[in-house]
Amino acid sequence: MKTCASVKNVCKLFSLIFSMITFLYVVYIVVVEKTYLPGGPFMLPLLRSKELKTLCSSNWTGETIVHLKNSRTYVIGAYLDLRSRSLIRVIGITYRYEQEPLFCDFCFHGTNETVPAEIEIHSDHFQFPYGTTDLLCNLKDSRIPQYIYLHAANYPSNIVFKVHNIEQMHNPPSRFEYDFLLCISALFGSYNNVLQFIQSMEMYRMLGVQKVILYHTDSSSILKQLLTYYIKQNFLELIPWPITTYINVSSGWHYPEHPGDLHYYGQTAALNDCIYRNMYRSKYIALNDIDELILPARHKNWNELVDYLQHSNPDASVFIFENHVFPVTFVNQSKPDPEEWKSVPGVNIIRHDHREPNDPSEVNPTKLILNPRDVVRTSVHTPLDFSGQEYRVPRKIAQLCHYRQPKKKEITDDMLIEDYILSPFENALVERVNSVVGQLELLKLEQTENLLPVAV
Ligand SMILES: *[C@@H]1O[C@H](CO)[C@@H](O)[C@H](O)[C@H]1NC(C)=O
Ligand SMILES: *[C@@H]1O[C@H](CO)[C@@H](O)[C@H](O)[C@H]1NC(C)=O
Ligand SMILES: *[C@@H]1O[C@H](CO)[C@@H](O)[C@H](O)[C@H]1NC(C)=O
Ligand SMILES: *[C@@H]1O[C@H](CO)[C@@H](O)[C@H](O)[C@H]1NC(C)=O
Repeated sequence: MKTCASVKNVCKLFSLIFSMITFLYVVYIVVVEKTYLPGGPFMLPLLRSKELKTLCSSNWTGETIVHLKNSRTYVIGAYLDLRSRSLIRVIGITYRYEQEPLFCDFCFHGTNETVPAEIEIHSDHFQFPYGTTDLLCNLKDSRIPQYIYLHAANYPSNIVFKVHNIEQMHNPPSRFEYDFLLCISALFGSYNNVLQFIQSMEMYRMLGVQKVILYHTDSSSILKQLLTYYIKQNFLELIPWPITTYINVSSGWHYPEHPGDLHYYGQTAALNDCIYRNMYRSKYIALNDIDELILPARHKNWNELVDYLQHSNPDASVFIFENHVFPVTFVNQSKPDPEEWKSVPGVNIIRHDHREPNDPSEVNPTKLILNPRDVVRTSVHTPLDFSGQEYRVPRKIAQLCHYRQPKKKEITDDMLIEDYILSPFENALVERVNSVVGQLELLKLEQTENLLPVAV
């Protein structure tokens, strides 16, 4: 009798444990994995979710730019966007003159649901034949696929894209990894302006930038080593940007004066991708080029500056900074290069303390610091689609300093305006640059290569 009772108890115990495990497994699949299968959760034990996930994700290339076969469309990234409606926003580049229909297949493990992609080409294509586009894949119900296929009609693709921002869209972090992240689009050619690159990176750090994201097409071999240095410092992330293997890009900004099929190395596609990719990593994202610095005139750094701006403009989600060109042809002779920098190729921004006067009747190529979660689409100089307000920051508060070749050829030296906005930072900048240059020498990075011509 006793044995029989204990066998029963053991049976009960086992069935209890079995039920518990099944229950927990179903909860895990439905809640944690967020995957749903045909036939409802009762089918689940028959299908191992992990295997299906692998099947869906197996052809995810992880490459930054993917050509959709049988189309003139290139895909960069897929991001969940529940802000105005439920959709997956795919950022891409497409041929504007003729648009082939494209489709999104949601990878729902076993089922195949196809919806046509709504193609919304960004308005800032600068007249080039190709332009940045959003491909909007509308979700039909509350299910959210972790992977999607994109393809042209009658041309099923086997290239899968991972859908990003799913977790964060549902549970936005209350604190961000960074306060300021900076997106720099497209470093290309044999870019070798090493000194200015170091100066800009060190200035960004001093100003409060915690991470720089650089879309990298190409650069000189010294510069590549410098990139490695900053990656190791955990200050830089490179996004490979092999756009030139796909499209004849223009190195200018307007068609047809600047030949090519796509505006400036696909700059707007990179910037939009950068915003979505980092939307939940950083409180603010800044968009400017490597030869540009947003400098506060009254504050020590961006933290103080943007705190002040946000406090006085609580509804602002985009801060716009006026561009001022500091021509590198005008040199302040009383500020010689420190001895340690003589072997480093590139521009020393400290020596260029005069700016061109701006013509108020001309459009100013402003640059931005924005709250990425309020931005839907951006151009290079202004946001295109966003919620909240934009605030144009007066020059007496901050300005964008652009250290480059003269923009207005007719301006003579005596017409330039002296501007010492960089002065409060100069001593610290020299020390920081000395330290980097010293470390690079230790690593014996330049040597023979410092004779390469400087691309400014
Ligand atoms: C999904 O179904 C559509 C038509 O119903 C088909 O054209 C497409 O190739 C299918 N996709 C996949 C990934 O099986
Ligand atoms: C992945 O790609 C291979 C070869 O291109 C193809 O045979 C396979 O069906 C694809 N797998 C999936 C899950 O689409
Ligand atoms: C780029 O331009 C060259 C010369 O005009 C042309 O032969 C080539 O097909 C173009 N490539 C692409 C991808 O459009
Ligand atoms: C050059 O820099 C020095 C030191 O900062 C400054 O006093 C001087 O005014 C500048 N020279 C010119 C020509 O502006």
